[in-house]
Amino acid sequence: MLKFEKMSKNYGSMYNCWLNYKKCTNSELKEQYRKVCGHIVVNDNSEIVHTAVEELKSALKEIMDIDPVITDKKLTSSYLFIGTADDAKSFKLGIEVNDNLVKGSFLVKNIREANYISLNIIGKDDVGVLYGVFNFIKAMSMGKELSQVDTLEIPRNQLRMINHWDNISGEIERGYAGKSFFFSDNKIVKDMSRIKDYAALLASIGINGVSINNVNVHKLETKFITEEYLADIEPIADVFRTYGIKTYLSINFAAPIEVGGLSTADPLDEGVKQWWKNAADTIYKYIPDFGGFVVKADSEFRPGPYTYGRNHAEGANVLAEALKPYGGLVIWRCFVYNCLLDWRDRTKDRAKAAYDNFITLDGQFMDNVILQVKNGPMDFQIREAVSPLFGAMEKTNMILEFQAAQEYTGQQKHVCYLLPMWKEVLDFDTYARGKGSLVSKVVDGSLFNSKYGGITAVSNLGDSECWTGHPLAQANFYGLGRIAWNPELSSEEIAEEWVKLTFGSDSEVVEKVVSILMQSREVYEKYTSPLGIGWMVYPHHHYGPSVEGYEYTPWGTYHYADWKGIGVDRTVATGTGFTAQYHEPVASMYENIETCPEELLLFFHHVDYTYKLKSGKTLIQHIYDTHFEGVEKVEEFTEAWKSLEDKIDEDTFKLVSDKFNIQLKDSIEWRDVINTYFYRRTGIKDAHGRKIYY
Ligand code: GCU
Repeated sequence: MLKFEKMSKNYGSMYNCWLNYKKCTNSELKEQYRKVCGHIVVNDNSEIVHTAVEELKSALKEIMDIDPVITDKKLTSSYLFIGTADDAKSFKLGIEVNDNLVKGSFLVKNIREANYISLNIIGKDDVGVLYGVFNFIKAMSMGKELSQVDTLEIPRNQLRMINHWDNISGEIERGYAGKSFFFSDNKIVKDMSRIKDYAALLASIGINGVSINNVNVHKLETKFITEEYLADIEPIADVFRTYGIKTYLSINFAAPIEVGGLSTADPLDEGVKQWWKNAADTIYKYIPDFGGFVVKADSEFRPGPYTYGRNHAEGANVLAEALKPYGGLVIWRCFVYNCLLDWRDRTKDRAKAAYDNFITLDGQFMDNVILQVKNGPMDFQIREAVSPLFGAMEKTNMILEFQAAQEYTGQQKHVCYLLPMWKEVLDFDTYARGKGSLVSKVVDGSLFNSKYGGITAVSNLGDSECWTGHPLAQANFYGLGRIAWNPELSSEEIAEEWVKLTFGSDSEVVEKVVSILMQSREVYEKYTSPLGIGWMVYPHHHYGPSVEGYEYTPWGTYHYADWKGIGVDRTVATGTGFTAQYHEPVASMYENIETCPEELLLFFHHVDYTYKLKSGKTLIQHIYDTHFEGVEKVEEFTEAWKSLEDKIDEDTFKLVSDKFNIQLKDSIEWRDVINTYFYRRTGIKDAHGRKIYY
């Protein structure tokens, strides 16, 4: 078993994130906990249960000042039991745990006997025990009475993942929180201490899969699936395993050529098939519970099956066949589009690409292939439609991909709590099987009875002290785990939990920080690109306003603004026909400008600046107003944060204040660039006579 050491003490308080244990000062509560948690009854016979015991001990010590006695005998005085459903049986606890519960489920239950109380944390399996323990620790951290910790928790999604875009150089593609903590200077790190701390954070929010390297797999990373690198990846997988987390690798579809020396990577070639099988044999020698491959193929210059005239089912299945004997998965990304479009060709629409590339393949993928679909049909914009693919492939496993990394949403310099957006996606009704066919039910597997499914996100983490660069961006990391566990949770509940666990339960802090988080996505949207049009950022690095930065490029991300109007006509009647990719009544709702939700107006329609919105304002006035409001809101955020100075530790207070200063400066830049652009295009003055540059 791995030696257990507590989270690194060399970092500031934000390093421990929501596991930032604070001493309980309520003596009555301490007494309650002391009575029951002074003795832990456990059959400490598995690596994961051992992890749970160690995590519990450290939390009890730090929060309640309890050094529990550990025993494997049932007691006749008060105790805390932790164990699996099987352990509960062998200890004859008399607590029934439903045999049909899915992996990772757990029950927390107080039982009052005549003379004593037992608190029982019972997992369906060992990882359920660990999740149950973390759930209990969180309740304790939030100051819950012991009698209020009872719960039954069942994870809704089987796969709850995070995708790192880390390169072996140590750089992170779209990383805004420092460098990689897996890789440095073309080597895999040897010191596992930070990775262990990371594993604890992941398990505490129920994440059970991590792909550690970038989907764009470069030269050295292509060799990760060979012995040369596996020996160094193995220790990472060993750490993750003790927290119930599987390790995945992004692979290069051309690896048979690039590392195997074959002349082709054609998925139907016998030599290629054998090569992948051999690769799988090698991987599982080092990592017996290896999760599988994440694959970006035929996308943004990455190799793929199209080179050989094969389709994506054929491409994915060659890998799936190799991993199948070991129970491994192929997570195949649907971010496939032509990034060399001609902007002059108005019939082409990047938004249609994922659907068009995959729709005919429904039912052709092996059952251990899962299609990974980005939340929107474009690319992680602050507002875009939900990908129509979710409602379109009834015979195919799917995992939903969010981007916690704030590539287009302020790059972790701006506060932008993404959970409200993620909830909109999960609650979106595809109507694939009539009303109520929510995306959340597609990806949890219940709608189409799929074998696998889940939620993943591009990581927003790096080696910065607080992991996420901007301390408030931790809420997106926390939220990913929570929403993947239970998509029914509201974004506000999640924000509140995160704030309490991170900063404590002071009501002013909770109220103000939750309020900032909850407004932040809309505020960012207000001062950036309006009504679903997206982009308007500087090309390549994607930060800051450049209204026409992408307008005449091959990337297919146009807004088509002229002197008269703006927006992409994606209707069937007069535009690109994208709306037809949705089921009715959604297709008609978007097709018709009257029923199209206004926040997506410019995503679906090309509209005159004088078009009257439901608010009674013209489109141009809406653009001006929202941009002024956005900046005012950032000023309010800055003030609200300032007022918490005495209640937040100094380093965190300063770091967040610095970020707000940047956000304020940048939001002013956005406001002025956008408003000036449209003023110059239209010559229409702001109805309120505010300063717009010319
Ligand atoms: C975006 C992003 C790229 C990334 C790609 C992907 O286009 O800018 O850096 O590689 O998404 O999801 O594969």
